[in-house]
Amino acid sequence: MGVNFAHRPAMKNIYCDISATTPLSPEVNEFIFKIQSTVFGNPSSIHRFGQEAKAVIEHARRQISKAINCSPGEIYFTGCGSESNNLVLHSLLKPGDHLITSTYEHPAVKKPASTLESAGVNVSRIPPDKDGRISPSNVEHALKPETRLVSIMMVNNEIGSVNDVVSIGEICKSKGILFHTDGVQGLGKIPVDLAALPIDLMSMSAHKLYGPKGVGALFVRRGVPITSILQGGGQEKNLRPGTENIAGIAGFGLAAQLAVETLEKSSTHLKNITQIFLTSLTEENIRFSVNGSHQIPGVLNIYFPGIEAQSLVIRMDMAGIAISAGAACSSGTAKPAGALLDMGFDIDRASTSVRISFGKFHTVEDVITVAEELGKIITPLQKDPLQ
Ligand SMILES: Cc1ncc(COP(=O)(O)O)c(C=O)c1O
Repeated sequence: MGVNFAHRPAMKNIYCDISATTPLSPEVNEFIFKIQSTVFGNPSSIHRFGQEAKAVIEHARRQISKAINCSPGEIYFTGCGSESNNLVLHSLLKPGDHLITSTYEHPAVKKPASTLESAGVNVSRIPPDKDGRISPSNVEHALKPETRLVSIMMVNNEIGSVNDVVSIGEICKSKGILFHTDGVQGLGKIPVDLAALPIDLMSMSAHKLYGPKGVGALFVRRGVPITSILQGGGQEKNLRPGTENIAGIAGFGLAAQLAVETLEKSSTHLKNITQIFLTSLTEENIRFSVNGSHQIPGVLNIYFPGIEAQSLVIRMDMAGIAISAGAACSSGTAKPAGALLDMGFDIDRASTSVRISFGKFHTVEDVITVAEELGKIITPLQKDPLQ
């Protein structure tokens, strides 16, 4: 039984869920295909086939380290961003330690934090403010003598808000506390210079920056005492056993390089089309309000009074446009954005808000079409709430 994409051509087919995942860049796709079809050795083998595969991995490691300005030896490949997050928390925390994190982390931080809490780790969870950001002073106030790790995400996946990782990291550094950031939504979207940033550990994932799914990485600053949570071979300097996903890693390297090389251009483009989109919503006579502030370019969490988010997502999907309600990218179900509740919005607002995330391939025509389709659905409902 094959996968049927026959429904696609007749539709508009505008994908506005870049925060959930991105399509592969054509260059990355081509490169992955080339590696997949030519390089098959086991990178741990000492013969030529193995060394060829190893060289592909080391090239990708250099590309990623260059993209975030760290040493190649500080990059460890993993199976995904979730694995990187789990590795950090499970490796560094033991009963009696104190962890400071936020209430709106991705489940790949939230769930290990809860598991560790059941095992005797003391956890403080800081809620975001009205703007959708974690206040550095709240992090400072939560510090305890036993605080071992602070884990605060760089960019929130539901709101798109960028946290002040510089101030949070400085606070941690001044107290000798490790600072981990889940950088999955930040890498390739905002500049990340790890030579300047006070970050000890950063999780990354290829599929959020036009790279392949199922490959992630962890930046570990030299000297951070992290150890493997899996047992197996000695790959990735004993931190992550398992024969490497060579083509995926190669694709990640190229995707990271391209994302950083084109960052300025795509940011300008995304800011421009986002502005056009917001203006078009107003021209469609839609009442709306953007939740939070300090978003990465192209990501909007928007409240449309009068229409339930899930129903809007389904109706837009029927019109060929993909948007998202809540954190569908992580749960597989469209629950209201927990981040909005954490920010102090009520359930009504949280369940009538959607996430619309644009990418570098969207055109001005695309965003105007999205606004027009929203207008067709929302404007009549807002005029006559009984419809
Ligand atoms: C902030 C954040 N962290 C972690 C992840 C998980 O990354 P991956 O899908 O590579 O496991 C995601 C993806 O949804 C995310 O948005």
